[in-house]
Amino acid sequence: MSDLFDFRRRLDNYAVMGNPVAHSKSPRIHSLFAEQTGEPVHYEAIQVDPGGFPQAVGNFDASGGKGLNITVPFKQEAWALVNERSERAERAGAVNTIKFGDATLYGDNTDGIGLVNDLLNNRLVIKGKRVLLMGAGGAARGVLAPLLEQQPAQLVIANRTAEKARELADAFHDLGKIEGCGYAALEDKQFDLVINATAASLQGELPPLPDNLLADGAVCYDMMYGAEPTPFMRWAFEQDATTVLDGLGMLVEQAAESFYIWRGVRPETKTVIEQLRREMAS
Ligand code: ATR
Repeated sequence: MSDLFDFRRRLDNYAVMGNPVAHSKSPRIHSLFAEQTGEPVHYEAIQVDPGGFPQAVGNFDASGGKGLNITVPFKQEAWALVNERSERAERAGAVNTIKFGDATLYGDNTDGIGLVNDLLNNRLVIKGKRVLLMGAGGAARGVLAPLLEQQPAQLVIANRTAEKARELADAFHDLGKIEGCGYAALEDKQFDLVINATAASLQGELPPLPDNLLADGAVCYDMMYGAEPTPFMRWAFEQDATTVLDGLGMLVEQAAESFYIWRGVRPETKTVIEQLRREMAS
């Protein structure tokens, strides 16, 4: 009993903060990482009320917490709260990982590298490819810099509100060939990689995509995931996409990058993704 108590006390505390957060898979992912690496990590999900985010972060810090993941809707607020940011977090305008230091609150954003690593793990090449990113909200913004770093031939952002796509493209144009447009402008264009970063799948909807959008061998990637294929994934199968992926791999990869920032140890992700798939299917 006292051994168990001592052991629990020696664990370092981490958490994900969001709203809603009850169904977050992050606690499960980080407990699998902790098991695998032997790192003394305890990780929980904390639901935070609107307006209560800075206080919740302060309380977690004061209680000896070592780090946080931040999810919807607090990523922008987290960006404003931290007093040091990585280059990629600075660009993204959003923070999904906080590390507590003695006098610092360090903010990073691992979403984009999570997406890129998942694509690369699946042996998909981004360099030289025509890439379409759908959506111009926080999810899209977070992945732009790491995607451009892979040097696609072109990156087109399409959004329901075309002006937002154009503004986003302007904000990243120094990093590569990038343009923004509405969905109607996609007629007669073809892409090798199409990524869905819209919230449409959450509502069971699909952005208005033209037929013949997919080039031979095209890859379709939905940043959402679930037990069933999303509307965009179903569209991709109907359009004969060669590869169709959901965002579960990205979720695990961004978690692995956060774990590395906190612990300096990089967990192996393949078996964790497989384990989560089995759990989701059952
Ligand atoms: P997130 O942080 O998840 O990106 P967000 O900032 O609210 O959330 O952005 C949601 C994105 O999904 C936006 O690009 C939105 O398009 P608009 O900017 O035109 O609103 C897009 N979106 C949401 N529902 C959609 C739908 N049914 N069809 C197409 N795009 C949709």
